[in-house]
Amino acid sequence: MAKRQKRFEVLDARPVNKDGFVAEWVDVGLIAMGSPNDPKPSVQVQNGKIVEMDGKRREDFDFIDRFIADYAINADRAEEMMRKSSQEIARAIVDINVPRAEVVRIFSGLTPAKIAEVMDYLNVVEMMMGIQKMRARRTPGNQAHVTNLQDNPVLMAADAAEAALYGFNEIETTVAVFNYGPFNALALLVGGQTGRPGILSQDALEESLELELGMKGLTAYAETVSVYGTERVFIDGDDTPWSKTFLSTAYASRGIKMRYTSGTGSEVQMAFAEGKSMLYLEARCVMITKGAGVQGLQNGSISCIGVPGGVPGGIRAVVAENLITTCLDLEVASGNDQTFSHSPFRRTARLMGQFLPGTDFIFSGYSAVPNLDNMFAGSNFDSDDYDDYLALQRDLKVDGGLVPVSEEEVIRVRNKAARALQAVFEELGLPRITDEEVEAATYAHSSEDMPPRDKVQDTKAAQEMRKRDVTGTSVAKALAKRGYRDVAEAVLNIQKQRVSGDYLHTSAILDPDFNVIAAVNDLNDYAGPGTGYRLEGERWAKIADIRHAIRPEDI
Ligand code: 5AD
Ligand code: CA
Repeated sequence: MAKRQKRFEVLDARPVNKDGFVAEWVDVGLIAMGSPNDPKPSVQVQNGKIVEMDGKRREDFDFIDRFIADYAINADRAEEMMRKSSQEIARAIVDINVPRAEVVRIFSGLTPAKIAEVMDYLNVVEMMMGIQKMRARRTPGNQAHVTNLQDNPVLMAADAAEAALYGFNEIETTVAVFNYGPFNALALLVGGQTGRPGILSQDALEESLELELGMKGLTAYAETVSVYGTERVFIDGDDTPWSKTFLSTAYASRGIKMRYTSGTGSEVQMAFAEGKSMLYLEARCVMITKGAGVQGLQNGSISCIGVPGGVPGGIRAVVAENLITTCLDLEVASGNDQTFSHSPFRRTARLMGQFLPGTDFIFSGYSAVPNLDNMFAGSNFDSDDYDDYLALQRDLKVDGGLVPVSEEEVIRVRNKAARALQAVFEELGLPRITDEEVEAATYAHSSEDMPPRDKVQDTKAAQEMRKRDVTGTSVAKALAKRGYRDVAEAVLNIQKQRVSGDYLHTSAILDPDFNVIAAVNDLNDYAGPGTGYRLEGERWAKIADIRHAIRPEDI
């Protein structure tokens, strides 16, 4: 090779240059927005039915077009709303004098191609202004991932309790080894309710098992019900928009909160993007969600973030997809949940699109464990980044959903959660949790600090637990019997939610007294400076009070 210029040698060794960047490649769909193959927006309504949409006659619709035309667009309003120019609609999103409800009304009559075109009129700052106004819940929130490489239940309970203490509204787990599924749900339920009563927990698994655990009350919500933007990708997963809708009603009928998952890049990754832009295809996914009557969506590329992350304007498209979700009046759990860059600058910049405006869940999985234990392939931020995140909130006076915690409190709740799970395991006749494990989980950084467990015995017991019909109520009983009355009550209160159904409202979370905070009683009322959610009073004092700040009394 030619003689290297020393600055370029240094640059080439920087973390950012370990990232994957690609030039646009339209044929395979490696284009964030505005592909030449994207359809031109259009609509035609006859006798209350959409007969033409985005340049296609009804008889040529694929099943996604048909589902969207019949269920996701208000045919009575479509022609009127489609007559508005895309620039005018883009301005309405940003204009503080146009109320949120009016934007929702406009969007109820738009087609996928129109929505994608509207987004292209906005720069990222305007998109963030849009999200600030359009997100459903007034109070922003956050979700954490709680997993570990060993599926160690004791550690998982302790980690769930710590995450709850930091203030996450939802915690999500999954498995390293499939057969651990039921144990992970149990550990998360007990640990989460120990850390903060009212936290909602889920276990991302194969769809029928996930539903089963929800019906048993071992989880409180579900999220990884995936939808896609082209017919071929749906068919690859043996699904249709109708089969997904059926699954969503199974959850709703049992009183279990749920949302769908989608995101830019999935169609490219599965090689069926039809040369369309990632954002156009994602607009279709958001509309499938709307059409199914599902209350919310986890989007923002999610597990496919490397794909938009690699193309020009890709991260802008990710902000746009979150904005679309809010404009369709859906709860948004806005990604930031998979690592996509080696560069701390890029990771932080990618976060700002959701962190600054606030979303219903800024991360749809902040890793509450070190990334080596993150079984979702790592998150954009992890537990080693907590103090950085808390400083970002304090510097910018932004509520990112977390609060500072003390080492003593963390030790206390981790220990209590591990002991509570130890008691539950004993009461339910599950493999023993030793005092040594409780101690290790209390002080652990990662699964590397845990003594090994007998995995054969654990997975066998986890499978038997399914057959033995262990439910949320049996967990509450076991806790009460062993003196963990407060945790027992919290676990029981989670079960009650499924009867009252109040947390099925859009964007619902629970406060520590199990009051529902949702878009019905906490609707976003942002209308410019001095309105909407403001980080003030006690909450601001808490967020400002980070551990390492020097106080006058220290001097
Ligand atoms: N589109 C659809 N589903 C996705 N998931 C993650 N990313 C996407 C995406 N872009 C879902 C998948 C996966 C789970 C972690 O989330 O179901 O298994
Ligand atoms: Ca998630």
